[in-house]
Amino acid sequence: MSVIDEVKQRTDIVEVVSQYTTLTKAGRTFRALCPFHSEKHPSFFVYPEQQSWHCFGACNTGGDIFSFIMKKESIDFGDALRLLAQRAGVKIPSRFESEAGKDEKERLYQVNQAAAQYFQNLLLNSPSGEKAREYLAKRGLSQKTIIDFQLGFSPNSWNNLKQYLIERGYVQSELLTAGLVIEAKGEETHDRFRNKLMFPIFDIRGRITGFGARVLDDSLPKYLNSPQTLIFDKSGSLYGINLAQAAIKQQDLAVIVEGYMDVITAHQNGFNNVVASMGTSVTPKQVSALKKLTKNMALALDADAAGEEAMLRGVSYENTLDAEVMVIILPRGKDPDDIIKQDAKIWRHLLEESLPVVDYTFNMVISNLDLTTAKDKAVAADKLLPIIAEIKEPVRQAHYLQKLARLVKVSERSIEVALSRVKPSQGRPKTKESATLYPLLTNRLEEYCLALLLQHPELKQSYQGPSPEYFQNTENREIFITWQQVNDLPSLMEELDPAIRENLHSLIAKNLPSNQIEQKYANCALRLREEFLRSLEIKRGEVLALVAEAGGIDAELAKLQEQGIEVSIQLGEVFIQKARRGQHQRR
Ligand code: GTP
Ligand code: MN
Repeated sequence: MSVIDEVKQRTDIVEVVSQYTTLTKAGRTFRALCPFHSEKHPSFFVYPEQQSWHCFGACNTGGDIFSFIMKKESIDFGDALRLLAQRAGVKIPSRFESEAGKDEKERLYQVNQAAAQYFQNLLLNSPSGEKAREYLAKRGLSQKTIIDFQLGFSPNSWNNLKQYLIERGYVQSELLTAGLVIEAKGEETHDRFRNKLMFPIFDIRGRITGFGARVLDDSLPKYLNSPQTLIFDKSGSLYGINLAQAAIKQQDLAVIVEGYMDVITAHQNGFNNVVASMGTSVTPKQVSALKKLTKNMALALDADAAGEEAMLRGVSYENTLDAEVMVIILPRGKDPDDIIKQDAKIWRHLLEESLPVVDYTFNMVISNLDLTTAKDKAVAADKLLPIIAEIKEPVRQAHYLQKLARLVKVSERSIEVALSRVKPSQGRPKTKESATLYPLLTNRLEEYCLALLLQHPELKQSYQGPSPEYFQNTENREIFITWQQVNDLPSLMEELDPAIRENLHSLIAKNLPSNQIEQKYANCALRLREEFLRSLEIKRGEVLALVAEAGGIDAELAKLQEQGIEVSIQLGEVFIQKARRGQHQRR
């Protein structure tokens, strides 16, 4: 999930707006005196369901939470995002980080590469590396594998690496920032990694961002990692991604395991689409990174962890990927490295037996229940309905609803009624602030339209494109407007706030049809306009009903009706254009 989505998900527009003006509940909306212009009768409305606002008075405009803050605080999108992120407890990159830090980061990649070469040379050639060579041989790694993964050995010394790197022109502060040395007493430093097997961690572009290091015996802790640095974020990295990306694309599937050794053994045995989450459970950031390569992922989990993972995050990852997440259940006490080494066929078999995460959860929940009893039927519904409620894709949701109905032998209708009362279970452990998660206002149409436009810059000349206001998500609107002002993608990247770049990347990577682009773009713009008008119409309708019910003032009613006529006329235009295009779409 992008940070923007995360901020949206954790922010309730009603809460935020109520810090600026007094909201009163009115039907399904909240009403207030407009915080943007002075007025006697409240014409400002907040719509919790759409997480949007609209002023039907002098402003006659509206938007989402970002546009509200931008307007109210007179700040740009990036600052609004930062303000809301801070409020919601979401961490985001600082504005100038990527520009100012560019050279510094480049140096860090270089120093890591130099260190990796040093470690590898010791592993391959030095007498002190003998122990490590034996260890790797014992674990069955081939020479080719050792080279492919650039494995190495860090000497049993406090400052050999430091000396080596200083001789090569790096300075102490760089080694500290890279996490290769640790500050000791006063000015003193010492090497972080000593007497360890070294696993360089590469990003997707093949740059070394950090290291994992394993002890050569059974002592604890077993692994030591680079600390978080400018270029290393363990929770966002996937070990092996540099070597796995081609296979992941080709097989349209990413298999996620836990450990370094699991990845290495898998690759050595020809399972090249395997990456590791490095010990932690898979994070949203890792899922987003994978999404650029494939929609399909399979998590190799041991039977104990699988249930929890499935319940906690499985469906939310499915929603992110817009596809099923599979789980590969590992035999108790074994990891993929053990299994593959024992017999690759068993691993292949486990892959074939993998289950969609929701089915797995079903199995797990009902395995302990007696579904002939009323009590256990209720338990099954209780545990499974929140998971089903979380599934965004309607067809799949319906499928599991049926499945549950059949299992507990209750009519589908009553299960549906129960579902409507359930809130989706939450994708992450609850904290006080994030106890309520708000629906993501993902607007696929907006994204589709932008993706077309970004991938086909010639469309910028098209007079049939959308107006900026049709984009109801401010971040999309920002991309649209900025794209009109620049000539190429690099300039667009530069102009946009770093936080939006994440969204931009996924738009650029979106798979699109390649024919009749101009026509598709025009259709898309038309539908955006239609959605915009319809949403406005719904909002206006609700307000009109409220005002009329309350015996509203004539002038107010007249104004709302007038606005309604204007919207109807515009919608009429849309229909005429649609008819001209011979579109027979349902909406
Ligand atoms: P082997 O014992 O060499 O097969 O390692 P493994 O990769 O199978 O390790 P294990 O299954 O114990 O742990 C899986 C992953 O969790 C490892 O690859 C590491 O990324 C991470 N991990 C395990 N132990 C530690 C630890 O003590 N510290 C840290 N930071 N990470 C660990
Ligand atoms: Mn292992």
